[in-house]
Amino acid sequence: MSDVRPVRWGIAGFGWVARDYMAPGIEAAGGELVAIADPSATAQASAMSAGLLAHDDVEAMLAAGDIDALYVATPNNLHLAPVRAAVRAGVPVLCEKPIAATLSQAEELATCVTGHVYGTAFDQRHHPAHRAMADAIRGGAIGRAIAVRIVYACWVDPLWSPDGAGAGTCNWRSDPQSAGGGAVIDLALHGLDLAELLLGEPLDRLHIALQRRIHDYAVDDGGMLCGRTASGVLFQSHVAYNCAELLPRRRLEVLGEAGLLVATDTMGQTAGGCVTLRDGRTGAETPLAFDAELSPFTAQAAAFAAAVRHRPHDFSIDRDLRLMRLFDAAYQQALPCR
Ligand SMILES: NC(=O)c1ccc[n+]([C@@H]2O[C@H](COP(=O)([O-])OP(=O)(O)OC[C@H]3O[C@@H](n4cnc5c(N)ncnc54)[C@H](O)[C@@H]3O)[C@@H](O)[C@H]2O)c1
Repeated sequence: MSDVRPVRWGIAGFGWVARDYMAPGIEAAGGELVAIADPSATAQASAMSAGLLAHDDVEAMLAAGDIDALYVATPNNLHLAPVRAAVRAGVPVLCEKPIAATLSQAEELATCVTGHVYGTAFDQRHHPAHRAMADAIRGGAIGRAIAVRIVYACWVDPLWSPDGAGAGTCNWRSDPQSAGGGAVIDLALHGLDLAELLLGEPLDRLHIALQRRIHDYAVDDGGMLCGRTASGVLFQSHVAYNCAELLPRRRLEVLGEAGLLVATDTMGQTAGGCVTLRDGRTGAETPLAFDAELSPFTAQAAAFAAAVRHRPHDFSIDRDLRLMRLFDAAYQQALPCR
């Protein structure tokens, strides 16, 4: 497609992440959000008030024929149908993580997108702080990597909804069939994918311990993951739905033989946060520079626009499916969570 006009986007599932993060990210990346498809009257009203076309379903939106890229942000078990529709319509598709609620749905989705322009929306790999960390590691700033340690947590009430509209109804995140699990499937894949980006190599071992400790819902509200890359770098991650929002809960560290990189408040949907590099010989701490205004969603929208224009990109369904398989094997071993 021509480089002179903006990529025109449609969105399937105009809920929290699409409305509050991806829609502004598309605009900030120079794209144009044209239409949404969502059966919810609230979502449609919100889209129309922003000047967007609103459809009941994705097929109708694609049939209108005026979008270059589709972003899918439906609940996890409802990713496959809009992705399939996009493939049928020949429209590149960026689908939210996890690929799907189950491994078998993810396998089906991967088969469906073979040969098609597809990306999984691991926005964390596009955060400029994380790109700066990856560059620093590659440049030798911490010497040989030893371990990645992550805390990524939040509070998810069973009746949570971003605007209160869903109050009194069950949050799909706590429904095993819709979400495929709880805190761990929702949050941990970000860190797993990020560790592979930072280290430049895949994880090949993973174990998970689950808990259902605080919330009274049918899925895990916390988990501890422990793994390793093929070359021997250790991976550890604590993810949770049961951590008070006011506590420190977004931290990423990479320990190397010559230093330690610490990222605070970079994991998540927003721009900013802070990264420091501590020297292993002197103890001196220096900040790592990155663009603190660039949100991971803006960077992700720009990266996918490059894919749509057949420019170099690093989206890969093969990589994402391999990670999902590794994750699922460990997750199935960890169940049940109580
Ligand atoms: N990358 C991130 O940081 C991040 C953050 C939050 C959510 N997510 C992912 O995004 C997806 C959506 O999460 P959310 O928090 O926005 O959920 P949400 O519940 O706020 O929004 C989901 C929307 O999908 C709509 N929907 C349901 N069925 C549909 C269908 N068949 N066709 C079209 N729309 C349909 C719902 O009406 C709702 O508006 C999930 O896969 C989640 O894991 C990613």
